[in-house]
Amino acid sequence: MALDKMKDLNLKEARLQLQLVELEGIPVMEPTYSTWDRVWKFKARPDDLLIATYAKAGTTWTQEIVDMIQQNGDVEKCRRDTTYKRHPFLEWYIPGPSSVRYSGLELAEAMPSPRILKTHLPVQLVPPSFWEQNCKIIYVARNAKDNLVSYYHFHRMNKAMPEPGTWEEFMEKFMTGKVLWGSWYDHVKGWWKAKDKHRILYLFFEDMKENPKREILKILKFLEKDVNEDVLNKILFYTSFETMKENPMANYTRDFQGIMDHSISPFMRKGAVGDWKNYFTVTQNKKFDEDYKKKMADTSLVFQTEL
Ligand code: A3P
Repeated sequence: MALDKMKDLNLKEARLQLQLVELEGIPVMEPTYSTWDRVWKFKARPDDLLIATYAKAGTTWTQEIVDMIQQNGDVEKCRRDTTYKRHPFLEWYIPGPSSVRYSGLELAEAMPSPRILKTHLPVQLVPPSFWEQNCKIIYVARNAKDNLVSYYHFHRMNKAMPEPGTWEEFMEKFMTGKVLWGSWYDHVKGWWKAKDKHRILYLFFEDMKENPKREILKILKFLEKDVNEDVLNKILFYTSFETMKENPMANYTRDFQGIMDHSISPFMRKGAVGDWKNYFTVTQNKKFDEDYKKKMADTSLVFQTEL
């Protein structure tokens, strides 16, 4: 069989293999669904740090900042492996041969403490042991419009994701929560509420862009860590968009080869606030805003959509 045909088949298989299934009303990947019992029973340890986000809200960025803090600014240590392997992605399971297989659970279980774990789960689906162990959690939220644009491009470049359809169609799916990990609106609101009851540092992508130093200091305080000015500047430099875009351990060029096509849209795409203006038509914007108002009427949560 011609190589490009084989590649085609693999990509098709990837799309077929990872179907969306509803778990308590939240669309998740089928392998997450079929291993859910184990995820739910996951044993968190008291010194675990969970980084929780809606997909495309700045997870990788935050992971890099936290790792740089944990390694006291030692860049080489942070390059020990890719983000995806350094910080187990809890509910993520890709069955298959060892070249593609990934189990966030197994990776986490085998990892010595202190662990940094990643999740995109809405708050109600977080395994109860995280609450029982009173683990620290960093939640990062990004304004809906930029989050949506980023998610759309991620669907285009990642053949393991469901077909996004047209921009217009994807926007509709996002607004109705018919996308992987469900409603953005419920996700950000649910975690916002939870922060009053648990040890959650709730951050915003826009604030991180506006003043990364200020937000890194917030993270340091939350983690009860201290670094000198040199290390702080190093963290700022190595977690900037420009540096991370070139870092193969953080830009997802090492994982998902043949699944993520960075020539369609790189994982490190723009890293900007306000890019939505390049995608929303005036009519789409009006419709989105009206719907947003209704969905967000019951929260005090406010986002910046431009800087
Ligand atoms: P864009 O697609 O808008 O560029 P996640 O890690 O949650 O999947 O989020 C990915 C988004 O975060 C992408 O957004 C990516 O470019 C952006 N991003 C990653 N690292 C960043 C950084 N250091 N600074 C700003 N944005 C960053």
